[in-house]
Amino acid sequence: MSGRLTTTDFKKMKQQGEKIVMITAYDYPAAQIVDEAGVDIILVGDSLGMVVLGYEDTLAVTLDDMIHHGKAVVRGSSSAFVIIDMPFLTYQVNSEEALRNAGRIIQETGAQGVKLEGGGETIKAVERITAAGIPAAGHLGLTPQSVGQLGGFKVQGRDAGMAAAILEESLALEKAGAFLLVLECVPRQLTAVIAERLSIPVIGIGAGRHCDGQVLVYHDVMGFYNTPRPRFVKQYAAARDEVQRAVKDYLTDVKEGRFPGEQHSFNMPGEVLAVVLEK
Ligand code: KIV
Repeated sequence: MSGRLTTTDFKKMKQQGEKIVMITAYDYPAAQIVDEAGVDIILVGDSLGMVVLGYEDTLAVTLDDMIHHGKAVVRGSSSAFVIIDMPFLTYQVNSEEALRNAGRIIQETGAQGVKLEGGGETIKAVERITAAGIPAAGHLGLTPQSVGQLGGFKVQGRDAGMAAAILEESLALEKAGAFLLVLECVPRQLTAVIAERLSIPVIGIGAGRHCDGQVLVYHDVMGFYNTPRPRFVKQYAAARDEVQRAVKDYLTDVKEGRFPGEQHSFNMPGEVLAVVLEK
């Protein structure tokens, strides 16, 4: 029996007003770090494409990429619930294909759930996946797999029509069986309404504090990039500077003969060396 948190725990946390903490991770060491720190949910996000693989957006990420990284995250964690993003075009074609791909993710990685972006047709996929017993999370607001259609990485739901559509789709996702909803880049007032109307937990990113928990991207939290960060990110470390300082110190030590020292190398008894020298 696994000692990981479950969907029932998240429901209880919402009912009891305990905030749910989610963070992304894409590899074994990061999974160990965040799991040991005590986060509730690790998201293997398809943001992987941008922060780890160096793509401009998330569209090029494949199912095999997600499974490869998902396996490492599951191996590196033991308490957190692991959700893996279904990448672009693995659930949009039809709900049978969505179920087959969700099944591959769960079977091959050992993760506990999957996440799908959008309303509309995605709602049918969520219904099919959850009917097969796989926990599925929704994701509305700024949905990066539709960045072309949304016209960029922008706040969503500022006008009444769009806000009402997001609310409606949130309710439909809950009805379809989603166990959790991520809301990205929406006005905080809209988040508050949705979190109040849904019985499943609502996790925000750039969606204000009036929801049941928060999610951030690991590389943003740690400060791995010097590029301007979105307004909703809070950086908690300066990892890029610290890691680069360490690499520069190593480089200088090697160039100047300070590394390795005797303590970093192995000794050979004199009599053995004598034999070698006779050869
Ligand atoms: O891919 C991702 O990291 C995400 C989060 C930003 C919610 O979907």
